[in-house]
Amino acid sequence: MTETQFTPRVFSGIQPSGGLTLGNYLGAMKRFVDMQGPDFETIYCMVDLHAITVWQDPAALTHNTRELCAGFIAAGIDPEQSILFNQSQVPEHAQLAWIFNCVARMGWMQRMTQWKDKAGKNQQNASLGLFAYPALMAADILIYHATHVPVGEDQKQHLELTRDIAIKFNNDFGVDFFPITEPVIEGAATRVMSLRDGSKKMSKSDPSDMSRINMTDDADTIAKKIRKAKTDPDALPSEVDGLEDRPEARNLVNVYAALNDQTSDQVLAEVGGKQFGEFKPMLAELAVARLSPISTEMARLMGEEAEIDRILARGAEKARAIAAPILQQTYEIVGMVGAKQG
Ligand code: TRP
Repeated sequence: MTETQFTPRVFSGIQPSGGLTLGNYLGAMKRFVDMQGPDFETIYCMVDLHAITVWQDPAALTHNTRELCAGFIAAGIDPEQSILFNQSQVPEHAQLAWIFNCVARMGWMQRMTQWKDKAGKNQQNASLGLFAYPALMAADILIYHATHVPVGEDQKQHLELTRDIAIKFNNDFGVDFFPITEPVIEGAATRVMSLRDGSKKMSKSDPSDMSRINMTDDADTIAKKIRKAKTDPDALPSEVDGLEDRPEARNLVNVYAALNDQTSDQVLAEVGGKQFGEFKPMLAELAVARLSPISTEMARLMGEEAEIDRILARGAEKARAIAAPILQQTYEIVGMVGAKQG
């Protein structure tokens, strides 16, 4: 098969299911911001259709979508440079997802660990949408012929499935139409763990608010949560090797490094030998310096609902300009009468 050249294009999505944390910022948004620039076209999506695969209160979904948009912009996504929109407003996602529902096999979906985790013991009672979730995710990516997808480690299996869908579609129809996407998996340094338990991911659904830093927390709250974060009694080592079996210590060093655009080794070269009593105030100061301009800007934008909605509408328009012709070509390949002949 000939190797078609695809435009270097980044796509990623975040579910507007509420509560942005430092984990979302360092693990996703900050990386999305770093990919903006001359090397890639960047497309970032609030995946509301994915969110409703489990129940969402409608008013909360509306609020969370706008808040996520405000978070993206406050974190540094420039809606002029990137395409920023919510998934439901570009109907081509759902349309291509249907085609992919007919390409993907039941057995592929059944193997997905996120499906097994989220459906739990009672699979019969999970939504059909939750089962088909990865086919919609493949459509999100492939409707733009995206070549690079920054995600967390937990989404790796879904990206492999996206590749499988692209390969099977290309094979079934004898075309070289969908690209084989490159996953850009986050490094350990950007996986932010709970402040109460260094072996668990920082999560908006953890019952303890002290376990996470929310992107909407004010300066005092951020400082307090860091002061109270779980640690161990030892001093900081001067190399990363010394953080083995010290998950809480490692997490705080990783967070410091990520916030300061350094490696953990560079941080430890400076702070090795210090006790947490000294390191925590440094971390708190850095976290407040980096995050409070973001939360302030988010709050400002949340007061400008019309501005947010305008940005999302404009983003959807730009996204459709790319997605619509790709859907038409797909329909044509599949043999749908009425699809524009290229
Ligand atoms: N499944 C992703 C998550 O929960 C969100 C997502 C949906 C996504 N569609 C995507 C991520 C496409 C990357 C590309 O984190």
